[in-house]
Amino acid sequence: MRGIILSGGSGTRLRPLTKITSKQLLPIYNRPMIYYPLDTLIKAGIKEILIIVSPERAGDYLNLLGSGREFGVKFTYEIQDKPEGLAQAFIIGEKFIQGENVVMILGDNIFEDNFADDISNFKSGAKVFAKYVPDPERFGVVKFDDKMKAEKIIEKPTNYLSNYAVTGLYVYDHRVVEVAKNLKPSARGELEITDLNNWYLAKGELEVAMVEGEWLDAGTFDSLLKAQLFAKEKLDAKMSI
Ligand code: G1P
Repeated sequence: MRGIILSGGSGTRLRPLTKITSKQLLPIYNRPMIYYPLDTLIKAGIKEILIIVSPERAGDYLNLLGSGREFGVKFTYEIQDKPEGLAQAFIIGEKFIQGENVVMILGDNIFEDNFADDISNFKSGAKVFAKYVPDPERFGVVKFDDKMKAEKIIEKPTNYLSNYAVTGLYVYDHRVVEVAKNLKPSARGELEITDLNNWYLAKGELEVAMVEGEWLDAGTFDSLLKAQLFAKEKLDAKMSI
C-alpha cells in the first residue's frame, strides 16, 4: 500500500494567513498541520509517501519534511500546478502508485482514530470513512438506506441529504488511476473525489466505514481554532512524530 498526502490548493478561505505559506503548514498547536495526516499514515504502517504540493510552496515542504528519513519513511514530491480537484492526485501520482493499492489523506484533515487495521486489511475496491457532523453542507455527504448501506454520495449538497460527511481519507485499488483519468471536471472546474467514489459505489465495491473519534477539516478559521485546542488537549500525547 502506497500513501499520498494531498497538500495543494491556495487556502483562499484562510487569507491572510495563507498569503505567506501553505494552509497545511500553518501551526496546529505545536506542529505544522501536515504532521497530523502524516502521523495517521505512519501509524498505519505506510512507508512510501507521495506529497503533492502547489508550485509556490514546494520549497517550504522540502525544507520542513526533507527525504522522510527523519520519520522512518520515504517521501516523493509532485507538483499540482492548479487546484483542479482531489481526484487529480491519482493522475499526478500514476508513476508513484505503480499499479498498487493506495491510501490518500488530505493535508488539512486531522483524525484521532488509528486506521492501521482498515488499511492493512484492504484488498480491493474502495473504502471511505464517514463521520456524523452538524454542518454536512461543507463536505461530500453520504446517504444510507435503512440497512446503513451507502446509496449515494453528493458533493456539498444544497438540499439536506444526511449528516454523514465523507472525511478526507480514501483507500483505493489500482483501478483508481484509470477511473480518475476518465472523470470530467465538475461545475466548479475540479475532478471530484466524490465522482471517483460514486464509480466504485455503482459497482457495489465501495465500503463506507465510520470514524469513531474526533475528525476535523482545518480549512476554515473556526475549524482551525478547534483543531488547535483539540491538538493541545488530546492529540499531542498520541503523536508519534
Ligand atoms: C473535500 C472533498 C469533500 C470532503 C472534504 C473532506 O472538500 O471534496 O468531499 O468531504 O474534502 O475534508 P474541499 O476541501 O475540497 O472543500
